[in-house]
Parts: sequence; C-alpha cells; structure tokens
Amino acid sequence: MGHIRVRPFSPQDLQRVIWINRNCLPENYPGLFFMSIYESFPKTFIVAEDEEKEEIIGYVMGRVERGFSTLKSYKLTKKGHIVSIAVIDEYRRRGIASHLLKEALEGFREYDATESFLEVRKTNIEAINLYEKLGYVVKKGLPGYYRDGEDALLFTRPL
Ligand SMILES: CC(C)(COP(=O)(O)OP(=O)(O)OC[C@H]1O[C@@H](n2cnc3c(N)ncnc32)[C@H](O)[C@@H]1OP(=O)(O)O)[C@@H](O)C(=O)NCCC(=O)NCCS
Repeated sequence: MGHIRVRPFSPQDLQRVIWINRNCLPENYPGLFFMSIYESFPKTFIVAEDEEKEEIIGYVMGRVERGFSTLKSYKLTKKGHIVSIAVIDEYRRRGIASHLLKEALEGFREYDATESFLEVRKTNIEAINLYEKLGYVVKKGLPGYYRDGEDALLFTRPL
C-alpha cells in the first residue's frame, strides 16, 4: 500500500467509484447520478487514491439541500447531506473514511451549509462509530427506510 492522497473527484474516476459503490454498499446509483452531484457540488465529492497503484480506494459524495433544520425548530437552512461513503476492504481502519468525511464537511461549509446530516442502517456499527467519532448524533429513527425494509438512523451535526 502506498501513500494515500485525498483529492476532489474528477470525471475520469467515475467507473472506479461506481465499482467501489457496487462492491461496498447495497445502495447503488447510475453514473448520471454521480455526475450530477459532481457537477453541482464538486467540493463535496472527494476520492482517496493509493498513489503507488494510481488507484481510487474510497470516496465520499455529498450534496447541499435546503430545508428545515434538524437542530433548530422551524428554521430553514442549507444542510450538507452525506449521500454515500465507502472505502475498499483492504484499506479500512486506517483513518481514510475519517479524512474523506472531514474534507466533505469543509466543502459543505464553503457552500454555506450550517449543518450536516446522513442516514445509516441501524446495524451498520462500523459506520455508526465513524459518524459518532466525527461529532454526529442520532436525531431519530427512520423505520423501513431501506428497500429491504431495514430501519435507518438519521444522524446530524452542526458545521
Ligand atoms: C464505514 C467505512 C466507510 C469506514 O471506513 P474506514 O476508512 O475504515 O474508517 P476509519 O478508519 O476512518 O475509521 C474511523 C472510525 O470508525 C469506526 N470504525 C471503522 N471501522 C470499524 C469497525 N470495523 N468496527 C468498529 N468501528 C469501526 C471506529 O470508531 C474508527 O475509529 P478508530 O479506528 O480510531 O477506532 C467502511 O467500513 C466502509 O466502506 N463500509 C462499507 C460502506 C458503508 O457502510 N458506508 C457507510 C454507509 S452509511
């Protein structure tokens, strides 16, 4: 394993990011969805690359949404939504997802978002630990959120 570089996504990374998404997560998206996020929010679509192998080994993808605050009642605000994050198996537990997420949070701030939120399967302990470590707290449960019927937890944090 070589040195890991974290940098913005670029369109030539698309096929590899789709491959990582399909291999790591049950929630998959068409290429056009990834590209539309990149076109609207390039600062919050970040990849991690093994510089020696010149290979992408993880990504995070986020977008900014307008809506009611998850932190303050009845306040309309801009919220940074973490849509998808994954690191391939061989590279896990080395702080790479944490680094990706921190970069995405910085990108959200640059888009003037005031808070960040995300959904996670309630059995996904690795991801739940990661989000708690980065300051997210559970806002509420989302029963039957996923296609297979599993519940989600909605996590949120100020920016
Ligand atoms: C969740 C995921 C992105 C974490 O990636 P990672 O690069 O291994 O994460 P990090 O090394 O930055 O870990 C940060 C913290 O997360 C938690 N964590 C990560 N992997 C864990 C594991 N296997 N068991 C328990 N806690 C874990 C720990 O608190 C860890 O901090 P520590 O290593 O100091 O204890 C990765 O496991 C993954 O891609 N999983 C499949 C895709 C997925 O579930 N995505 C999230 C969907 S909501």
